[in-house]
Amino acid sequence: MSDFTTIIVSTNERIGTIQLNRPEALNALNAELMDEVVRAAVEFDADPEVGAILLTGSAKAFAAGADIKEMASKDFAEMYSREWFGRWDEFARLRTPIVAAVSGYALGGGCELAMMADLIIAGEGATFGQPEINLGVIPGMGGSQRLTRSVGKAKAMDMVLTGRHIGADEAERIGLVSRVVPDDQLQAEAEKAAGTIASKSKPASQMAKEAVSAAFESPMNQGLQFERRLFHALFSTEDQSEGMAAFSEKRSPEWKHR
Ligand code: CAA
Repeated sequence: MSDFTTIIVSTNERIGTIQLNRPEALNALNAELMDEVVRAAVEFDADPEVGAILLTGSAKAFAAGADIKEMASKDFAEMYSREWFGRWDEFARLRTPIVAAVSGYALGGGCELAMMADLIIAGEGATFGQPEINLGVIPGMGGSQRLTRSVGKAKAMDMVLTGRHIGADEAERIGLVSRVVPDDQLQAEAEKAAGTIASKSKPASQMAKEAVSAAFESPMNQGLQFERRLFHALFSTEDQSEGMAAFSEKRSPEWKHR
């Protein structure tokens, strides 16, 4: 893995971990960090030894948003011609399941980055919000779309129009996060979840991610058809035969493709 300056990258037991590391700016997402996260994640995605990616920040902040100081002096022409934030699409397209472990602030782009993950596990002190309205802008890394699809119009409008921060409990209640755990157990719980995902058949976990994402991204009829085709396709894998045989034989499956 390349040398990075804004993230810390490690691999352990089929989990590739990316820790955002700009403590002086509460992990604000500047262009360099975006580039490094995407490069590291793309490398993990291509690594057959990695079955899940874990994305974390610090105790105080997962990420406090896109870097406001970096953007402050930019104009429309530059934002448009450089397709600012467009690089994150590559991250959102990865096929390896991604678990975000959120402690502290997940605001603006921080909340949006967490929503690009497949599971969000939050510490009980975590805070989520889309405060861009307070900067005279709107979410630009997918917040208006992903948040609305996750939590519905009522809550998304509330957060995007008022900039109100919400706590972890409310985030779980409205369906923004998968689980809330005590802050001091966040890392262990997130590693456990990532480890469980990484222990499954890789084609099955990748297709499961693809299928759920399709429900999120396309109309129901297309999503159902897409899901059925992926389900049929899994019958070409040895892991389907093994998994079903193991069930009948009342034993644990031994996955071939991991
Ligand atoms: N960009 C750049 N720097 C940031 C930052 C950000 N998003 N968030 C925090 N920082 C910096 C602060 O400027 C400060 O730096 P200095 O010490 O050099 O002044 C340092 O991080 C520590 O921050 P605070 O002193 O503000 O810490 P705090 O504990 O008092 O407050 C906070 C924490 C409530 C999160 C506050 O920092 C804050 O409101 N940050 C901005 C949140 C925000 O508006 N996010 C949206 C950004 S726009 C966006 O994300 C667009 C998009 O859709 C992608």
